Amino acid sequence: MLKLPGLIDPHVHLREPGATHKEDFDSGTSAALAGGFTIVLAMPNTKPPIFDASTLKLALDAAKQKARCDYGQYIGAGPENAKSAASLSGTVAGLKMYLDSTFGELRLDDMSLWMPHFEKYPRSQPIVAHSESRTMAAVILFAAMYDRPIHIAHVSLKEEILLIKAAKERGIKVTCEVCPHHLFMVSQVSSEERGKRKEGRREVRPRLATQQDVDALWDNLDVIDCFATDHAPHTLAEKDSDNPPPGFPGLETALPLLLTAVDDGRLTMNDIITKMHSNPRKIFNLPEQPETWVEVDESTTYEIKASEQFTRCGWTPFEDWKVKGKVRKVILRGKTAFEDGKILVEAGYGRNVRGS
Ligand code: DOR
Ligand code: ZN
Repeated sequence: MLKLPGLIDPHVHLREPGATHKEDFDSGTSAALAGGFTIVLAMPNTKPPIFDASTLKLALDAAKQKARCDYGQYIGAGPENAKSAASLSGTVAGLKMYLDSTFGELRLDDMSLWMPHFEKYPRSQPIVAHSESRTMAAVILFAAMYDRPIHIAHVSLKEEILLIKAAKERGIKVTCEVCPHHLFMVSQVSSEERGKRKEGRREVRPRLATQQDVDALWDNLDVIDCFATDHAPHTLAEKDSDNPPPGFPGLETALPLLLTAVDDGRLTMNDIITKMHSNPRKIFNLPEQPETWVEVDESTTYEIKASEQFTRCGWTPFEDWKVKGKVRKVILRGKTAFEDGKILVEAGYGRNVRGS
């Protein structure tokens, strides 16, 4: 039996408020525990989006009642909320800036709208940026100009990881995360391949990339600070519709997929501990969780099945994938929170990592 520290996922979408048919703080944090995570940081692209004190209260009240693991809530950067977002920083996980298109309404196109946020948001927390390709270069310039930490969400391209590597070498305060789906899945370019599957189930932002991009991520593991799931549940009916929303669930598949890569010799156990515990804890300034650990049976081989998951969305892009390594038990702050497929802590056991 392998013992790991409580894992931290700095990037999840729990859909509360506004879309609890996809997920809520109860189902999402249950999925987190089943996946070996004891802290999740929830994104603000909900309905309504979390961008001021009253919308933040909606999310935090729901979380307080329903969360089963510890959590933090991001606030979203809007065109006019730089001052209030900064004043709420003590109660949130960090500031999320949507600078490229994705699911939801939060998006800042004009770079002059980025400036007040870079001026005002406290340097004790990173600004997390959804920024792809050249937008990423722009936000890294901002980090350099304002000399403040930024964290780049879901890096997927070769040009992006090489840019971040170069920025780090020049002392710019940039950290980054990569998602399992961008490490294990490749875009299907041939039309023949494309016809075989329902396309909606492969829609995700950033899009799945080429083999060359995937190889570049694996070749630059030392540049990757965190593995984050970008757990983005949408129901199967939504994914198979004519207008499928982008996003994959990931909380319950990340650790088994990454442990399988350890077994294959592509990663080390130390990579898992640093990128899923120590680094996110440091980058997001998260509290220690006393008497907290995860027990994993390293030798169990099994197939991933959506029917065994706690996420409410009812599917996974990794259905039937063979993995090696199963979460047996999660102890959270002295209590057995998960054991052999069962959640054993009540809704409301989870605490806000910012202490309110
Ligand atoms: O695929 C995605 N889905 N990418 C995002 O950035 C947002 C997410 C969502 O909220 O569904
Ligand atoms: Zn996301």
